[in-house]
Order: sequence, then C-alpha cells, then structure tokens
Amino acid sequence: MNADIAVIGLAVMGQNLILNMNDNGFKVVAYNRTQEKVSTFLDGPAKGTNIIGATSLRDMVDKLATPRKVMLMVRAGAVVDDFIQQLLPLLEAGDIIIDGGNSNYPDTNRRVVELKAHGIRYVGAGVSGGEEGARFGPSIMPGGDAQAWPHVKPIFQGIAAKTDSGEACCDWVGADGAGHFVKMVHNGIEYGDMQLISEAYHFMKVGLGMDHQHMQQTFAQWNSTELDSYLVEITADILGYLEEDGSPLLEKILDSAGQKGTGKWTGINALDMGIPLTLITESVFSRCLSALKDEREAAAELFQNTPKAVDGDVAEWVDALRQALLASKIISYAQGFMLMRQASDESNWDLNYGNVALMWRGGCIIRSAFLGNIRDAYANDPELRFLGSDPYFKDILDNCQSAWRKVAAKAIEVGIPMPCMNAAITFLDGYTTARLPANMLQAQRDYFGAHTYERIDRERGEFFHTNWTGTGGDTASTTYDV
Ligand code: 6PG
Repeated sequence: MNADIAVIGLAVMGQNLILNMNDNGFKVVAYNRTQEKVSTFLDGPAKGTNIIGATSLRDMVDKLATPRKVMLMVRAGAVVDDFIQQLLPLLEAGDIIIDGGNSNYPDTNRRVVELKAHGIRYVGAGVSGGEEGARFGPSIMPGGDAQAWPHVKPIFQGIAAKTDSGEACCDWVGADGAGHFVKMVHNGIEYGDMQLISEAYHFMKVGLGMDHQHMQQTFAQWNSTELDSYLVEITADILGYLEEDGSPLLEKILDSAGQKGTGKWTGINALDMGIPLTLITESVFSRCLSALKDEREAAAELFQNTPKAVDGDVAEWVDALRQALLASKIISYAQGFMLMRQASDESNWDLNYGNVALMWRGGCIIRSAFLGNIRDAYANDPELRFLGSDPYFKDILDNCQSAWRKVAAKAIEVGIPMPCMNAAITFLDGYTTARLPANMLQAQRDYFGAHTYERIDRERGEFFHTNWTGTGGDTASTTYDV
C-alpha cells in the first residue's frame, strides 16, 4: 500500500490531526489499541475521507509507503515505550517513528539514541493548539534525528498553522529531545500567561469590584492592544459565558487547579540549569497552592484576611493592570528564552530563537501578536540574552514600570495574592541591579563554612577565606558551584 503516514492513538488530538492531514491531501492510516475506536472513527468523523483503518500494527505497517512514518499520539510515559517495542520488529532501517505527545524531553533524548541503534529515525514533536489547533493548524515543534526531517517536513508544514504572511508554524528545532524541550518551555510559558491573566481577573473582581460584563469587555478590549493573544481572547469568552439562570459559569468552578506536569518539568529544569525562571515556577506553585483548598478554607476562617477594596478611579486602575500584565508577560518570556539558551548551550542544540517564536506565533495556546515582536527581536540580534533589552520591549518595560509597581504594591497592601506579577517586577529589579547583596551571602558562607569568596578588587576566579572570628581555622573548603 502507499499511505503517507500512520497515526496511533485516536483520542481527541490524534483524530483531529488525522483529519487535518487528510484535508491537506495526505493518505493516513488510523490505528488504535481498542479496535472499536477505529471503526467508530471511520464511520463517524472520517466517513467519506481517504482515511483508512488498520486492524493490527502489522496491518498498519503494511499499508505504509517507505520510508514508513508512524506517529504516536498516545499518553506520555511507558505507553510510548510499549508501542516502540511493538513497532520495532515490524519496521526496517530508515523508517521513522514520531512521538507527538507531551513527552518529557530526557525520554526523547534516550529514545533517539536507542532507536538510532536499530536504524530507526526518531522524532519527538511537540504539538500545541488543543483540539481546534490539531484539526485546523497546530504549532508543531519537531526535533530528534535530523535525517527524518525531509520526510516529515511536507506533512508537518502542510498541516501546521500559518502566520498572516503564510509561514508555517513548524520548523526543525534541533537534535535529541530539543522539540519536546521547546514544547515543555511553551507549556511553562502557557502556565505563566494563564496565571498572570488570572491575577488580573482577581484584582478586577475583588479589588475593583468589577462585574463580569465589565471584565469581559475589558479583556476583549485588551485583545486589540499589544496583549492580543488566544489566551486573552478566551478569557473574555469565559467571563461572558452565562448559565441558564443568567449567572456566570466561572464563579461556579472550583478554584483548585490541575496540572499534567509540563510546567513542573520546566521549573525543575530551570533549577537544574541555574536559570532564575521565577515567574513560571511561581505559576506552578500557584497551582499547588490552589489545590490546598481545604487548608486554605480553614486558614481563611482563622485569619479573616478579607482583601480590602482598591480605592480610586476604576478605569485608571484597569489601565495600570493592563500595563502590569504586559510588562510581566515580557519578563516571563524573557526568562523562558533564557532557559532555552542555557539548554541549547548545554546540549549543543543551536536553537534558533526567532524560529521558536515563529513556531509559537500561530496555532499554539500561547499564540499572540507579541510573538511576532519576539521574532523580530531575535532577527535583529540572534545573541540577545535578555528579551527586555531589545529596544521594542525595553520601551514597554520603561513605560509600564510606574503603573506596574503601583498595581503590585496595591495588591500587597490590600491583600490580593499576585505572585507572578510580583515575581516579574522583582526579577527586573534584581536583573537590573549591578550590585546585589550577594556579597553578604558570600561573607556568611565563608564565616560559617569557609566556603570562600571573590573580591571586587581582585581578578575573578581568585578565592579568599577569612578567619572571621579569629578562633576559626585558616583552611578554606573546596570552592565549587553546582
Ligand atoms: C497545548 C497544551 C496542551 C495541554 C497541556 C495542559 O500546547 O496544546 O499545552 O499540551 O493542554 O498539557 O497542561 P496542564 O494540564 O498541565 O494544564
């Protein structure tokens, strides 16, 4: 047979990707472990298309043109390894396996190497955009064995979202698990964006006493500013959604956030790599804190810390909030790109940051006009270390700073938790401070543990120890950093 690609896993993402591939002229074989799902799909959404089903993995493989391309759209973790093991005896050298799930990138690193030893080219592809993205144009971030790219490129770039100027939101990311790494950071940024928006909503509702219609209109209006993005757009929709009795559904939803792990992995990576990814990490902790619902209710009862209303002109506060959200978002992306640069340096991935921004420009959950500006920033200076130093973003940070500080300070004063907005401004203050109090830290470390310090009046790399009390020894401990 001569099908272009097989997709394993007919959950929502798998089905929609298959339909999208079919729309774009590719012949797809659909397979699912539970056979019934295949027939339900073929008799349902896939009816009247060129999509064909497979009754077994053998049958599926036999229906593919060579080199065979098999895409896994299954749950991350052991299920991926199970399918790889089952596929191995059925495939031959040169064939390609693609994992389109949210796999943790060290798993992808490992699989690329293991499969290479069998002559199989392995691709870990981050796919973002949810159900609608998968159906009509996701953002796809493929990485792994570069030899696979020419074979999957037409399919992936064919089905991916396109920017206004027609560029596909999909390009080769890099070797090993680079694609899944970039998708992980995407999700971390998604966590940050969502938390920042939620903090703005909280300030509007609790601090400013705005009703849902007013909040809905505000977010809708923000969506025609630099904040133009999918997440701001859906926030307006969510605020406007009413139940049959005319009350907003949002207020009936339990305030305990779930998470599938990609934000947590991003935070863990930042700690491992020594990158101050404060905002995204705070957003993960915010979800953890929200999940302590019973404890929070008990503490609320005990402390009676009801936030106070924010005085002043509501319209002025709303505009200050818009500026605080925009500036915080710049810091979040700046931190995310710092993490990617560190990973790229450590793993020799040679990531192209402008391309990453382009891939996120459309199709994915964090898609926004803003990413077009990030792309321009990296096009102007591929070596840019801090996004906020780019003239466009620096200008925004400078202009928004006073309103941003006002919002952050007011939130603390009245008792509205805004961990991510506060983390953002604190990061900017730290990053733009030439002399931090880490001299004190170093002195303390040397005082109690002879951990040594460097001096500002001597060359970097020369380490000193002081016998601070006169009773300690002169022997320094080894100087090393993790
Ligand atoms: C995407 C989303 C997608 C998924 C998240 C949800 O890019 O399409 O990020 O991958 O919705 O994994 O993550 P949480 O369940 O952790 O919020």
